[in-house]
Amino acid sequence: MGTSETAPSSTGRIDRLPASAQRFAPSADFTANAVAHADLYAKAEANREGFWADQARELHWHKPFTEVLDWSTPPFARWFADGELNVAYNCLDRHVLAGNGDRAALLWEGEPGDERRITYAELTDEVKRLANVLEGLGIGHGDRVVIYLPMIPEAISAMLAVARVGAIHSVVFGGFAADSLRARIDDAAAKLVITADGGYRKGKVSPLKPAVDQALSDSGSGAQTSVEHVLVVRRGGNDVGWVEGRDLWWHDTITQASPEHRAQPFPAENPLFILYTSGTTGKPKGILHTSGGYLTQVAFTNRAVHDLHPDTDVYWCTADIGWITGHSYVAYGPLANGATQVLYEGTPDTPHPGRWWEIVEKYRVSVLYTAPTAIRSFMKLGRAIPNRFDLSSLRVLGSVGEPINPEAWIWYHEVIGDTKAPIVDTWWQTETGAVMISPLPGVTETKPGSAQVPLPGISIDVVDQSGAPVGNGNGGLLVITAPWPSMLRGIWGDPQRFVETYWEKFRAQGYYFAGDGARFDEDGDLWLLGRVDDVMNVSGHRLSTAEIESALVAHEATAEAAVVGASDETTGQAVAAFVILKQSYLAEHSAEGLAQQLRLWVGEQIGPIARPRDVYIVSELPKTRSGKIMRRLLRDVAEGREVGDTTTLADASVMTVIAANVR
Ligand code: PRX
Repeated sequence: MGTSETAPSSTGRIDRLPASAQRFAPSADFTANAVAHADLYAKAEANREGFWADQARELHWHKPFTEVLDWSTPPFARWFADGELNVAYNCLDRHVLAGNGDRAALLWEGEPGDERRITYAELTDEVKRLANVLEGLGIGHGDRVVIYLPMIPEAISAMLAVARVGAIHSVVFGGFAADSLRARIDDAAAKLVITADGGYRKGKVSPLKPAVDQALSDSGSGAQTSVEHVLVVRRGGNDVGWVEGRDLWWHDTITQASPEHRAQPFPAENPLFILYTSGTTGKPKGILHTSGGYLTQVAFTNRAVHDLHPDTDVYWCTADIGWITGHSYVAYGPLANGATQVLYEGTPDTPHPGRWWEIVEKYRVSVLYTAPTAIRSFMKLGRAIPNRFDLSSLRVLGSVGEPINPEAWIWYHEVIGDTKAPIVDTWWQTETGAVMISPLPGVTETKPGSAQVPLPGISIDVVDQSGAPVGNGNGGLLVITAPWPSMLRGIWGDPQRFVETYWEKFRAQGYYFAGDGARFDEDGDLWLLGRVDDVMNVSGHRLSTAEIESALVAHEATAEAAVVGASDETTGQAVAAFVILKQSYLAEHSAEGLAQQLRLWVGEQIGPIARPRDVYIVSELPKTRSGKIMRRLLRDVAEGREVGDTTTLADASVMTVIAANVR
């Protein structure tokens, strides 16, 4: 896994902790109304399973569970296994039946400024119709459906309708290119793709359907696709190709469908979704989540961590539904809680750099959940922009996806939160499904830069390579020491990889290895130190070095490539690629402009988020005697640092040559 070759933290943020770290106590007003209370910790401590069972009972169970946790065959956990529920019913019908049908579920804002207010009753109606459409297309229990959509209300309806009929969705981020889409369709053997003609990004329509057509054309892989139908939402109004018999317009089918649909119960462990994420190899992992435990933890954390009061708050999580944050804190958590939320289609700077703050003002957003990379880019633009808007409705601010450095934390607190709104820095992963480490607003005294404490019912430690706790003041590896309800249940089609990746390292102790470095400070608060494996975190998005390397070597000019995550002021980390060109290529072509071509190539192969910030053409790569690339040294070069210890290199002069090439 390359652990020994990689420094625990490439960001070095811990060093920037102010000597006397500031603390912010919850205000008395806030505490009185807060959802979470200090006794949650004591309750969970006294009886972890009982605590989670209580949280699970907040949901509607068609058949109540009698078992809580079955951990008899670790690492394959089963939560609430003899209970039955319907996830979509929990997110929709029960709110309508409780008399909240007129409450806004989605306050949607399109990038061009068009808007839609969709109530719980309307969303329920739409999802029931779509569930009928899906069943009419032969989609039922256990079938896989790929969702490749912009941030439009139909994306939420699609996820819920798939869940309602007991099928499994795999949402693919709209920024992924045709090849990445095809790989995900094939891995899950999806029968249906739900997409749109296009969506608005940066002031123009960005087409989506052509990528689906390309992904499904058999010419590339030579194999027959599993996809039988493509359901297309009209959003961009752009011209699209059409395959008769395969393609269907959403608006045609849904208006003809019946609005009556009875939600059937499914067992708690029924698979809900697969979400692909980058690992340490070139092949993305299909992280599998199931129903009852997942919904329990996302709903609970959304209430407690975001202090969500569904009847009064206007909640806004800025994540795209293509990522886990969009699944847990746009789709499932807020809807299970009956919240009113803002959904925004576009980019933060279109048509002006104050767009987000304009939205906060317009909808009186009270809870905002976003990523440090966004905060840092606003910080760069200066406080004058947010200061032009009335942000006084904001009362809780959240951060997710990467460590938030104390400077960004303080800026977020002062400029966006007017020093009143508590900040919750939430640590979790695609694999954990829901927040695991975070302060609780109203309970925890917050400390800028620290994700602080495990949530009630969650058990975390920081250990050394042998699994022994390192204790306060020391750095080590972050582990989760007991099963939790929203934990991943496996990697789609690859149980062996699931065991090896997360459970093998600390098999004797039965710990889940998160892949992050961490440290408890003297007060016992947790500081996350970044990945310890070959996974990068660019703008809060996970990318694998191996995946980008394999895209680079797929180019005809490339002989060899090594990729590292170099620290970047705005995006946290940025992709830096070191490429050796083929002699045969150089004999016939000029290398002029090739670095730029390779950048674009990676964008086409994987998607624009994977495009390297820097491509360095080099003649050698630093390798150990056993042939392993020493990424640590390349990271030194990419970050403009003095190159570290080179004694384990097969040829120590290589680094001098590389460093000279790069500067
Ligand atoms: O390295 C950690 C970082 O993001 C990784 C998980 O990425 P992903 O599965 O894409 O999920 C992102 C959204 C939950 C983690 O292994 N990470 C996430 N949140 C934080 C964080 N690092 C530090 N502080 C956080 N709050």
